[in-house]
Amino acid sequence: MNSQQYEIGMVGLGVMGRNLLLNMADHGYAVAGYDLDGDKVAELQTEAGTRDIQGAKTVADFVALLRSPRVVMMLVPAGNAVDAVIHDLLPYLAAGDLIIDAGNSHFSDTDLRQKTLANQGIHFFGMGVSGGEDGARHGPSMMPGGAQDVYERVRPVLEAAAAQVDGDPCVAYMGPGSAGHYVKMVHNGIEYALMQLIAESYDLLHRGYGLTDAELSYVYAEWNQGELNSFLLEITSDIFIKRDAQTNQPLIDEVLDAAKQKGTGKWTSQDAMNLGTPTPTIDAAVAMRNLSALKEERTAASQLLTGPEIKPAVARAEFLTQLHNALHVTMIISYAQGMAQLQSASAAYGYHIDLSVVARIWRGGCIIRAALLEDIRRAYTTQPDLPNLLLDEKFSQVVIERMADLRSIVGAAAQMGIPTPGLMASLAYFDGYRSARLPANLIQAQRDDFGAHTYERIDQQGVFHTEWS
Ligand code: 6PG
Repeated sequence: MNSQQYEIGMVGLGVMGRNLLLNMADHGYAVAGYDLDGDKVAELQTEAGTRDIQGAKTVADFVALLRSPRVVMMLVPAGNAVDAVIHDLLPYLAAGDLIIDAGNSHFSDTDLRQKTLANQGIHFFGMGVSGGEDGARHGPSMMPGGAQDVYERVRPVLEAAAAQVDGDPCVAYMGPGSAGHYVKMVHNGIEYALMQLIAESYDLLHRGYGLTDAELSYVYAEWNQGELNSFLLEITSDIFIKRDAQTNQPLIDEVLDAAKQKGTGKWTSQDAMNLGTPTPTIDAAVAMRNLSALKEERTAASQLLTGPEIKPAVARAEFLTQLHNALHVTMIISYAQGMAQLQSASAAYGYHIDLSVVARIWRGGCIIRAALLEDIRRAYTTQPDLPNLLLDEKFSQVVIERMADLRSIVGAAAQMGIPTPGLMASLAYFDGYRSARLPANLIQAQRDDFGAHTYERIDQQGVFHTEWS
């Protein structure tokens, strides 16, 4: 075993950690791996083949393999496991070493860890990694945040391992502190929104128009050829043709309709609320996962709470066109909400996030990669301070042109009694954002009436209170 030869080490050799390590080794980097579970270390060693990969059985052996100043990446579940790994590593690390947490940690934990480790001279990076197992192995999108000068040390290996789009790696420095984990959190919030919107379109087509799984697969495949081109539509089309190995029936119909979640979508909504940034499509997506989880309660309620008979009013071909366009605008609106949240967070937390760079590194490797991101990148490259994507000339034109279709779809969904909160919330966000005057004057008057909370006037400066009753 050669000491101090390895350029980067990975703690956590689950499928994500192992695949990312193999990916880096494929690009000529000498890498070391460690896991508490000795079987996983052995698995890595077997898979390594002729690549320059060394597994270690103890933390001491693992750290001894790494070249100084050391770079240790970890891919372990968010929460206590991250602190446990840091605790185990610390006795063997020296000032100047770098730890990278590549899991989905909450950004506030990352801030705290960064500060605590800085006292011991250890650099700490929070880095979002998106793309699942396949992405980790063949090119993920990565969102690192921490000290910029330290980033330069890992830039070459990250750029080599990342997905590439038009010669650009899907990795870039996101900003100081927890910027990397924050950007990944919002990525996941958008992911929740897009998944919810696609699920609503499925419900409308399946329950509303009786499309079979094979027809659904065809529709999504066709949509994936055009403006809606995206990884999520691609896998959706594939999912509908997958057969159950046991029954040979479409597997999708055997899957329980209760969505799970690990929390990143909820965190996105929670922090959007803290920042006062409206993200209603993301919020609706989180709420609908929660509603879906109430399977037993819903099943009981379905016996009592009746709704309209599902009777499509529009011909199928026309409905399909409207739904395509509705999905297009609501996807734009989902990205608009996520980007607006990043902008607010950037100002509030001092991240200095460049939204055009975020759009650039989301074009490949990650779960929300989509053709749309090229246009989003263009919008923020030409107008870095754009307050909202919907104000970009090209996006505003598309959205205005297609809004009538979203209105028709939302109306049809309401008539049929099919829940489409993602589509509805997106429409309301659009109508709210384009309203110079909202009924919030009444809310202010009510607050002042019952609690003397005061209000401002449109015709005079200052704050006012009135005895309303
Ligand atoms: C990614 C994904 C990933 C996430 C899963 C599941 O970018 O690769 O976002 O990070 O953990 O998609 O998330 P939920 O369990 O919350 O759906």
